[in-house]
Amino acid sequence: MYIEERAISLFYPFEMEHYLETLLGERDPLLREMEEQALQETIPVVTPMVGNFLNLLVTMSRAQAVLEIGTAIGYSTIWLTRAVKKNRGHVTTIDMNRDRLNRAIQYFERAELKKYITALDGDARKILPQLPSTFDFVFIDAAKGEYLDYLNLVYPLIVPGGVLVVDNVLFRGWVVPNTTFAPKYERMVGRLRQFLEELSRNPEFTTTVLPFGDGVSVSRKIDVSRQ
Ligand SMILES: C[S@@+](CC[C@H](N)C(=O)[O-])C[C@H]1O[C@@H](n2cnc3c(N)ncnc32)[C@H](O)[C@@H]1O
Repeated sequence: MYIEERAISLFYPFEMEHYLETLLGERDPLLREMEEQALQETIPVVTPMVGNFLNLLVTMSRAQAVLEIGTAIGYSTIWLTRAVKKNRGHVTTIDMNRDRLNRAIQYFERAELKKYITALDGDARKILPQLPSTFDFVFIDAAKGEYLDYLNLVYPLIVPGGVLVVDNVLFRGWVVPNTTFAPKYERMVGRLRQFLEELSRNPEFTTTVLPFGDGVSVSRKIDVSRQ
């Protein structure tokens, strides 16, 4: 039932998502509970496949200092932190919705991950310039209309060779030119197109866009010392 209810926002066949999700195996009860909560309250958390992908990327990149922009109730944070814990690292996560952040902190406690996570309450656009350290891995999943702001602010915080992952970059497939969507989304879709173009053309990053979940971009910041 969970996946059928989510299928409305998929831009590829529901059967494919369903099949690939069966390959992931059963999630633990805590993640399942969070998925149900998010669905009931229409909180747009990452899909289980994207969560698993984040976990894999953090493991593969051996990232220790991880930053997340957009915590919500902490679903993606838990996928990230389970990998970061094995790398002996730490996750900093930011959300401006205090109620959601408090619920996320309760989930971090239940997942026995709280000591690996610093949760910051506030607008990422104000918090990012004040962060004192750099990051090996950054995950952006907050307000789609603000992605370019986050990109500019987060750029100096990513170490050379660091990874940047951004969710929802294809926004239901509407970012692809000549697709049909309600006029109220025009501005957001336009901003996402601009974001993707700037990120893809940025010579400081190598970027690929993956058409799964709601569209996920993966970039690596160029490390000039290794060129
Ligand atoms: C899509 S949800 C995050 C979902 C979460 N990453 C997950 O997959 O479990 C987006 C969150 O970004 C937060 N947000 C939006 N704009 C923000 C901003 N400027 N600064 C901090 N948080 C913001 C919202 O409050 C919301 O909880």
